[in-house]
Amino acid sequence: MSLISSPPPLPLLLFLMSFWTLATPFTVIMSDSGEPNALVEGPQTGFSINKDGARTDAREQEAVYDIMRATGNDWATDISDVCRGRWHGIECMPDKNDVFHVVSLSFGALSDDTAFPTCDPTRSHISPSITRLHYLRTLFFYRCFSYNPQPIPSFLGQLGPTLQTLVLRDNGHVGPIPIELGNLTRLKVLDLHKNNLNGSIPVSLNRVTGLRSLDLSCNSLTGSIPNFSFPILSILDMSQNLLAGSIPSQIGACLSLLKMDLSHNWLTGSIPNSIGGLKDLMLMDLSYNRLKGPLPMWFGTLVSLQTLNLKGNPMGPTQIPSEGFEGMKGLMILILSNMNLHGPIPSSIGHLPSLRVLHLDGNHLNGSIPNSFRELKSVGELRLNDNGLVGSIPFGREMVWRMRRKLRLYNNSGLCYNANSGFEDNLDSSSSFGIGPCDPPRPRP
Ligand SMILES: *[C@@H]1O[C@H](CO)[C@@H](O)[C@H](O)[C@H]1NC(C)=O
Ligand SMILES: *[C@@H]1O[C@H](CO)[C@@H](O)[C@H](O)[C@H]1NC(C)=O
Ligand SMILES: *[C@@H]1O[C@H](CO)[C@@H](O)[C@H](O)[C@H]1NC(C)=O
Ligand SMILES: *[C@@H]1O[C@H](CO)[C@@H](O)[C@H](O)[C@H]1NC(C)=O
Ligand SMILES: *[C@@H]1O[C@H](CO)[C@@H](O)[C@H](O)[C@H]1NC(C)=O
Repeated sequence: MSLISSPPPLPLLLFLMSFWTLATPFTVIMSDSGEPNALVEGPQTGFSINKDGARTDAREQEAVYDIMRATGNDWATDISDVCRGRWHGIECMPDKNDVFHVVSLSFGALSDDTAFPTCDPTRSHISPSITRLHYLRTLFFYRCFSYNPQPIPSFLGQLGPTLQTLVLRDNGHVGPIPIELGNLTRLKVLDLHKNNLNGSIPVSLNRVTGLRSLDLSCNSLTGSIPNFSFPILSILDMSQNLLAGSIPSQIGACLSLLKMDLSHNWLTGSIPNSIGGLKDLMLMDLSYNRLKGPLPMWFGTLVSLQTLNLKGNPMGPTQIPSEGFEGMKGLMILILSNMNLHGPIPSSIGHLPSLRVLHLDGNHLNGSIPNSFRELKSVGELRLNDNGLVGSIPFGREMVWRMRRKLRLYNNSGLCYNANSGFEDNLDSSSSFGIGPCDPPRPRP
């Protein structure tokens, strides 16, 4: 998402959506395991008293020591039982013989409340001993290898039988996404956000059919988006890469999608019609690509959509379809800036009941602002600047005051305001440049 300036509570929504992938690792392991939740919660008192009770698998214990040494956490090797002397960032689970197995390892200073072991950024690496953790479900590294750039090790593919969550976020990884990650067929969450990964997205990821969240954003990935289909994927983020080619129509088979962010790439072609079938989709951001028009007529079938951002795709010269957004009861953010749109603003946009942010700036829209815009009671941010709009501004004092500087109308040669609309008191030079009263007051005697 590239949208920054919007009124509350929208930033909260965007914030929640962008951290969804971060939040998932901590919930997946607790709630999605088919078994009863046998995870040890915090230091267990009965645990050390019961001398004949659970103990940690010896080979896994050695592997954890190796992994901790490789991240500069040598202190951990003084702990005689890693599942007993637990630290934040390690989770263990007993099997039926009361042998404890490591099911989750996390590293990195994520926030003030999550005190995972940090990595020594200059010499950390991922130890191959990790492949000896045969019960590992969650592996999480955040900001770990930034000053010791290294590829994502292909041996992680060997965790296939158990791994459900792999997060390598903001780690400085270089090189390609290893095709071996396609062996992680049980994976639900794959998060490789903000590394320096290059090469193309491996087709082998198609094998990970249970994927729920795929975040490859903020890398340097090239090539086209593979013709994948993930039936239960809900989060797809490939934004801020160098991806080219067209959006595969197979994306419409990801019927559980809630968020699709492909913004800031080099994608071409038109928006596939199959996307119109994604009934749960809440956020679609295709901004800053090279997608061509015309604008689809079917946006109204996206009944759950709250945010649509197509900014910076030169789709025109084309017009905004007059009924194109009809029925979108939940649409809160509509961004169609800099798209080479011509013709009038359809009055149907004024009937979108939930709209809070509307950007139509930087186009060649003409005619007047529809009277229906008076009904946009929730809009807190409206940009119609840099168009060819004419006539009187239809909204009144209350709306002008509500938006204040978030109302941008400049560089529309023909707009004017009515007396008593609240404009006179509220105009500041940056937002109002060039707009005068429709009925110029008579010169004073
Ligand atoms: C993992 O994937 C690679 C490449 O996709 C394949 O050659 C290899 O046999 C796989 N290994 C396992 C253990 O499945
Ligand atoms: C990826 O980046 C590395 C340098 O980090 C470079 O050597 C390699 O050629 C690049 N590969 C591709 C496919 O761009
Ligand atoms: C993508 O996959 C679908 C179904 O698996 C197939 O119908 C379609 O032709 C494929 N498209 C490309 C470009 O490979
Ligand atoms: C608005 O623009 C369209 C398309 O460019 C043009 O056909 C139409 O005549 C224009 N209308 C007005 C009122 O300028
Ligand atoms: C005014 O808007 C038009 C239409 O978008 C644009 O081409 C032009 O550059 C803008 N003028 C200024 C001074 O920004």
